Amino acid sequence: MDLFEYQARDLFESYGVPVLAGIIADTPEEARAAAAKIGGTVVVKAQVKAGGRGKAGGVKVVHNADDAATAAEAILGLTIKGLPVNRVMVTAGAKIAQEFYFSVLLDRANRSYLSLCSVEGGMEIEELAVERPDALAKIEVDPIAGVDLAKATEIAIAGHFPPELVDKVAPVIVTLYEVYAGEDATLVEVNPLVLTEDGQILALDGKVSLDENAGFRHPNHEALEDAAAADPLEAKAKASDLNYVKLDGQVGVIGNGAGLVMSTLDVVSYAGERHGNVKPANFLDIGGGASAEVMAAGLDVILGDPQVKSVFVNVFGGITACDAVANGIVKALEMLGATATKPLVVRLDGNKVDEGRAILRDANNPLVTLADTMDEGADKAAELANA
Ligand SMILES: Nc1ncnc2c1ncn2[C@@H]1O[C@H](COP(=O)(O)OP(=O)(O)OP(=O)(O)O)[C@@H](O)[C@H]1O
Ligand SMILES: [Mg+2]
Repeated sequence: MDLFEYQARDLFESYGVPVLAGIIADTPEEARAAAAKIGGTVVVKAQVKAGGRGKAGGVKVVHNADDAATAAEAILGLTIKGLPVNRVMVTAGAKIAQEFYFSVLLDRANRSYLSLCSVEGGMEIEELAVERPDALAKIEVDPIAGVDLAKATEIAIAGHFPPELVDKVAPVIVTLYEVYAGEDATLVEVNPLVLTEDGQILALDGKVSLDENAGFRHPNHEALEDAAAADPLEAKAKASDLNYVKLDGQVGVIGNGAGLVMSTLDVVSYAGERHGNVKPANFLDIGGGASAEVMAAGLDVILGDPQVKSVFVNVFGGITACDAVANGIVKALEMLGATATKPLVVRLDGNKVDEGRAILRDANNPLVTLADTMDEGADKAAELANA
């Protein structure tokens, strides 16, 4: 989960990273009030989860509250990299002497952490990385050892900080690493980290990504989610603890086990080539215990997708046998009642397959078609979606 800059700022502040006052505003009037409260020169900054805001006109320095309102009005109308700006942050203006770059991130390829650091930070960091890669230090960080003052000093020296700045910046690097480790982040990036004219180090921008797999350790992270941006179907699925990913096609897919569901997506895509190029509408893994409730919740999400024209239920009975799954489907259709209107193709195999098929046959629901094999089921579901 990526955070907005203002959320990163708040997180930094709670760990003791030096930051400036920041107030969020959703309207020009709120921006005016925020600027008046902060006083003096302020910076109005677009809050979108994308880089390059400054270059897109999303960062404006102003010197009074009226100009802050005007700047907010202009910025709130922008779309940056396809993302509408719904909110700005009004933050105190810093007198910048120098801009630096620092980040620490999860280095999956090396199963380690990596810190990037340069005394030459600011908006041109991407160009710097390409044109003069030596200017951007890449230092491995051992996840067990972490970043102490000695390691932070090593990072700053590698980033070509002069000696007098190394001593100032190293403690801030230690604290930024504390944010990274303490919050189970996969990225903490500060660009720019600045030296002010009066000699202070400040984090003037922050990008933080949190590892959702560690969410159970951080009950406070849930509140950081951007509910407005979430796909409503994905949000609904998440509320039922379903592993659901919305895709663009017309054939709803339900299966048990991520591997089976992924191969089902492939098979449906191939079958779709014969039926007007219909495609899978989603990934949905109902997992091992496919109870009636889970099946109903899954069907409810999929049938709520207006793009879905047919559904392919592909289940291999294992610990949860086919008869339990079949009962789940029958009960789920009962629970959904009149809201279930789209045809369902069901392929069952594995443990207690005959019992499962018998249950579906006896229930005789006109929406349900049984398929013997995965290919046959995919073909039938694609055909129904194209009808
Ligand atoms: N509080 C501030 N006071 C003075 N100048 C600022 C302040 N915040 C940002 N700036 C200036 O604006 C520039 C751009 O700001 P910022 O880094 O937040 O956005 P950005 O780099 O364009 O966005 P992104 O990092 O998302 O690409 C900074 O490099 C800095 O020069
Ligand atoms: Mg920046």
